[in-house]
Amino acid sequence: MYFHLIGFFVTSAPADRADSLISDLVLTANETLLAKGAPAGKGAKILDWKIVDSKIRVEIESDRYVRAHDAFIRLKKPLAEILGKKYHIGIRGVEIESFVVKFPSENPVKAATIPHVSKIEFESGETSVWMDIGESEIQKRIPDRIITLIEDKITAEEYGGKEEHWSLLWASEEKTILYREDPTTELVKRNWIKHGAARGQWIYGPEATSVFRAFERIVVAEVLDFLGYQEMIFPKLVSWDVWKRSGHAKGVYPEIYYVCPPKTRDPEFWEEVADYYKVTHEIPLDLIREKIDDPIGGLCYAQCPPFWPFLQGKTISDETFPVRVFDRSGTSHRYESGGIHGIERVDEFHRIEIVWMGTPEQVVEESERIQERYRYIFEEILELTWRKAWVTPWFMAQEGLTGTSGSEKVGTIDYESLIPYRDGWLEFQNISVNGDKYPTGFNVKSQSGSELWSGCSGVGLERWASTFFAQKGLDRDGWPSAFREIICELPEGFVFL
Ligand code: SER
Ligand code: ZN
Repeated sequence: MYFHLIGFFVTSAPADRADSLISDLVLTANETLLAKGAPAGKGAKILDWKIVDSKIRVEIESDRYVRAHDAFIRLKKPLAEILGKKYHIGIRGVEIESFVVKFPSENPVKAATIPHVSKIEFESGETSVWMDIGESEIQKRIPDRIITLIEDKITAEEYGGKEEHWSLLWASEEKTILYREDPTTELVKRNWIKHGAARGQWIYGPEATSVFRAFERIVVAEVLDFLGYQEMIFPKLVSWDVWKRSGHAKGVYPEIYYVCPPKTRDPEFWEEVADYYKVTHEIPLDLIREKIDDPIGGLCYAQCPPFWPFLQGKTISDETFPVRVFDRSGTSHRYESGGIHGIERVDEFHRIEIVWMGTPEQVVEESERIQERYRYIFEEILELTWRKAWVTPWFMAQEGLTGTSGSEKVGTIDYESLIPYRDGWLEFQNISVNGDKYPTGFNVKSQSGSELWSGCSGVGLERWASTFFAQKGLDRDGWPSAFREIICELPEGFVFL
């Protein structure tokens, strides 16, 4: 990476008399101040400087170690000292005439309108980014954020088209496959499920619901009660503040169901909407658009983020660890891509979200314990054909990133099940060690001051059902005996004429 900056220190008077002092400062700064913290031979260099009226113009180049914009700001204090002490000249401010950062990149970077970026160019393996910044942007670390953003875009581009990270960890034996058809067709035919009125939404009849509830009982008995989890109720409307802290604000936009409150709850304000509908039997969307406020956030997406404000800013007593909680109090919503099929991929889904927190060791160990319980369920109760893969962590994927966390311990394991009718695999749940992301993001501390990590695991009931029906069909008599015992008799649902 290469940085080049031309900037001015605006002085209270022309600094010509200080010429030789500035010259000395530049020479020593190049060797000391602008190399501080950088490996030998690296850092920033002042290439040129001159006095232009009441300004001192400097040209600085650097590598990534002492970035040119930081070098420029580092110079301000010593410069002010030498000008002030002897010549009583002050520095009134700084101006940046030009600032460009060059990144090696195989392809042009797609960066339509990044704030403070005035121009982007690509030429023979290099992307150049011109920034329009001043001192306050440097203080707010805006150039560094732009650099990270461009680097992430380059990484994403290099991954381009490639799948997200995926490496197989473990695969089960093949179990008896009782069914080879698409179960959705049969589920609909038997009235166990029916499309809801909204996109990607299903209504679950009594039979399907009893299967969902049986899955829940299994998770409660074999995982949550077994390991000592406590139930909580997490909010299902997630405000921007939560998504800023969880990182979702970095990338979840195309998939959110946005939530807009009314501008006022004054019935008079809304009367024309109601009247319009009463007369035309049409919903006056244009009118409604005028009367609703900006979105305050969106519907529950990842389920665990809105739990964290419960702990936000708290110091937690050491005997509380590991924290073990779960939520199953409502739906999650994602605006999914097309090709929504049956209940395998839906916009509205039901999930048990399991969250734990403790020292890094506790969190990793807990993940292993939960994995062992899942293995027991899938092997001994549901008798599934399934496998586990190390994938791009969910919290990175939801920020729009690819790759892995870079740590062997922090990341996501996807559980995948064989879907015989299409000879493919379906992610039917995950488990993750999320590192310090959430305790740090929500400023949670432990009494002892030791590092805090957290983990989470989402059990998607639609995905479990898709898996189970796809492998075992809809006929209770053929289902594994351990599961038959748990579900008891299926309710007799609707018969339509
Ligand atoms: N929060 C995790 C996810 O969204 C687990 O459910 O994948
Ligand atoms: Zn989670």
